[in-house]
Amino acid sequence: MTTDKIDIHRGLADVYFDRTESSFIDGKEGTLLYRGYNIHDLAEKSTFEETSYLLIHGKLPTRSELDAFDVDLRSSRAIPDQVVEIIRAIKDSHPMDVLRTATSALSSFDPDAGDNSPEATLRKGLRLTSQVPTIVTTHYAIRDGREPVAPRNDLSHAANFLYMFKGEECDEDTNQLMDKDFILHAEHGSNASSFTARVVVGTNADIHGAITAGIAALSGPSHGGAAEGVMKMALEIGEPENAAQYVKDVLARRDRVMGFGHRVYRAEDPRARHLKAGVKRLSEEMGQPKWYAILEAVIEAMKPYARRGIHVNVDFFAGVIYYLNGIPEDLFVPIFAIGRMPGWVLQVLEQQENNILLRPRLAYVGPEEQAYVPIADR
Ligand code: CMC
Repeated sequence: MTTDKIDIHRGLADVYFDRTESSFIDGKEGTLLYRGYNIHDLAEKSTFEETSYLLIHGKLPTRSELDAFDVDLRSSRAIPDQVVEIIRAIKDSHPMDVLRTATSALSSFDPDAGDNSPEATLRKGLRLTSQVPTIVTTHYAIRDGREPVAPRNDLSHAANFLYMFKGEECDEDTNQLMDKDFILHAEHGSNASSFTARVVVGTNADIHGAITAGIAALSGPSHGGAAEGVMKMALEIGEPENAAQYVKDVLARRDRVMGFGHRVYRAEDPRARHLKAGVKRLSEEMGQPKWYAILEAVIEAMKPYARRGIHVNVDFFAGVIYYLNGIPEDLFVPIFAIGRMPGWVLQVLEQQENNILLRPRLAYVGPEEQAYVPIADR
């Protein structure tokens, strides 16, 4: 039973388990491509709808293809009354728990339930992409004692999310920043939640199960929870001049500075810079420039760690953007989930296409075989 000769890759770091056409990440250079398109181009020039089409269908759409795709997305935003009732029943839970439960419940009402063909999986994936923002804002309203705001189909995905959240339309700049945030979060290869979704699909289970499991994996602070952690940190720091001491104290406790470090990137996360400009603009516009200054001061204090490959990641700036938009901290991870939906759908479809059971092994280090002793003799 010796396990000495077994090569163990704890955390599966740097282990390739399959091929993908989804996204390419060069962690040393800080490069991220979705289906061959640079994240910088997509963040600056694309929309969430177009990027979703690209991810799911593998190519940039023509105008008519994009219009048809968008019509499908816009027409699927409502969630069944029964799911609203489930949300009411669990309204005091964390929004990620509510999102997980409601996503799972949606499978019971989906017209394609039980059909795991690629066509049905795609239809279900698109419906879920549309429904997830509605779950998040429905719960937000219900727990606040208000009636949920019904989705509108004359608004883009990002604008409709903010409309359902605030009960009124936001200005174009705010909508565009949310749209960019969704694009930046849309796909990231074999991250923990997408890998989880693939493991579920590997058993030939359906997309609702896979995405429900993906949501569970995303909810942890080492994955999706970092934006919430960054905002908590910024609030605790309070003023830019406190940042250096704060960081020193965190590192002395051997804790993690939230929004820094990444399993794959050893250079700056290429997604971060697009949200940095947003924080700067928004904090100035809202007369609260200190938030940007605090983040800058944290980056300055973390500079010695850059040599060890610990840089800002996508979630470093995201939290402050949500905060300045009046979004409560516990909705930060659900917003990550809204953005990640097309990536999960793509990963599920790709896994299904060339499916295999994902079943690695654990090296046993427990006791040698021993005699069973009846309970009366123990
Ligand atoms: N602050 C301080 N030290 C850090 C940090 C950090 N944020 N991240 C890594 N390190 C140190 C860590 O202490 C370790 O040092 P040592 O070798 O002396 O023990 C070394 O760097 C390697 O860390 P690791 O935990 O082995 O690296 P990992 O690849 O397992 O962890 C991570 C990646 C993202 C979990 C980690 O960097 C972290 O906890 N960061 C803070 C949370 C965070 O911002 N998460 C969001 C990730 S981006 C969004 C997403 O894709 O989900």
